[in-house]
Amino acid sequence: MKQRTVIITGANSGIGKATAHRFAKEGHILVMACRSPERSRQAWDEVKATSKNDQVELMQLDMASFDSIRKFSKTFREKYNILDVLIHNAGYFEHGSSYRLSENGIELTFATNVAGPYLLTMELLDMLKQSDDARILMAGSNIIKHFFNPKLEINLSNLRGENPNDPKYRVYDYYRDSKMALLMITKKMADSFSDKGIAVNMLQINGATMSKESVAKLTPGYRIVARIQNLFFRPPEFMANHYYVICTDDAFKGITGELINHKQEIMEKAEENPGAKEQMIQLATASRCPVYAYNREVQDKIWSLCEKMTE
Ligand SMILES: NC(=O)c1ccc[n+]([C@@H]2O[C@H](COP(=O)([O-])OP(=O)(O)OC[C@H]3O[C@@H](n4cnc5c(N)ncnc54)[C@H](OP(=O)(O)O)[C@@H]3O)[C@@H](O)[C@H]2O)c1
Repeated sequence: MKQRTVIITGANSGIGKATAHRFAKEGHILVMACRSPERSRQAWDEVKATSKNDQVELMQLDMASFDSIRKFSKTFREKYNILDVLIHNAGYFEHGSSYRLSENGIELTFATNVAGPYLLTMELLDMLKQSDDARILMAGSNIIKHFFNPKLEINLSNLRGENPNDPKYRVYDYYRDSKMALLMITKKMADSFSDKGIAVNMLQINGATMSKESVAKLTPGYRIVARIQNLFFRPPEFMANHYYVICTDDAFKGITGELINHKQEIMEKAEENPGAKEQMIQLATASRCPVYAYNREVQDKIWSLCEKMTE
């Protein structure tokens, strides 16, 4: 087995923690990049103890803070010579919360789920280039199914605190848009990095049981929804296995710019003008990727927005 150097963001809970267990157990060199070292200490100890892998490090990283991302990247570069796998797992989805800005003045959902992964990738690009099989994986969500509605577009109008008291503000909508924006960046990065041999893909997560701590972050109404969903969702280890396979298996070598579903299948571009049958397939299966994700103009817009925000 090839031993890889791996970073997993948000590795202290849920799918991220389950993935950390898996990489550590298989003997890889692992950095658990977590927002709070205090709250993540227990997860780190568990991962080291069960895997008996002493090459597992806990490092502080707040994906909503550009300063933290730059500090983390600097420290990582000083300690390691290479990065083979970068898993952007951390995500902000505190449904029901009010409008919040990051310390850089960016709407918190977009800052954490889009601008953060963009900046961290750019900061670590040189390290990824050292690998002969570098793979980046983004955590996606089946929430992007909303974009099968041809009228829906990513709302970029309130990302800088333009209208903080907007009565229509919902984290749910910004989360939906952020996961589509992240998919667009995935495609754009895949194109830009193709000559560097760096693969960039996204896994479309269609549900994983949420921990008590994550459920507690939601407002009461969303908490009830999450508890009901938890009855039907599979444990985080199921998606963690997909993260692992996509980032290590030869079957995924050279595959880039793709949205991959919970069966490890590459999702196809949806039809532009779907008939009734195709519409059913789009909504009832995880085989199609919304056409909107392929819109180069919007991809470029999101990319340059990230460039500007992180300058
Ligand atoms: N569970 C699902 O059904 C589902 C469905 C679709 C997509 N997803 C995606 O899957 C990924 C993992 O979610 P999960 O279900 O495993 O939830 P989770 O257990 O709540 O994990 C989320 C992780 O993200 C971290 N995080 C949030 N904001 C951060 C920040 N600013 N900096 C660093 N880390 C931050 C959290 O750290 P703290 O502990 O410090 O908050 C936590 O470790 C997310 O990207 C999510 O959007 C999940």
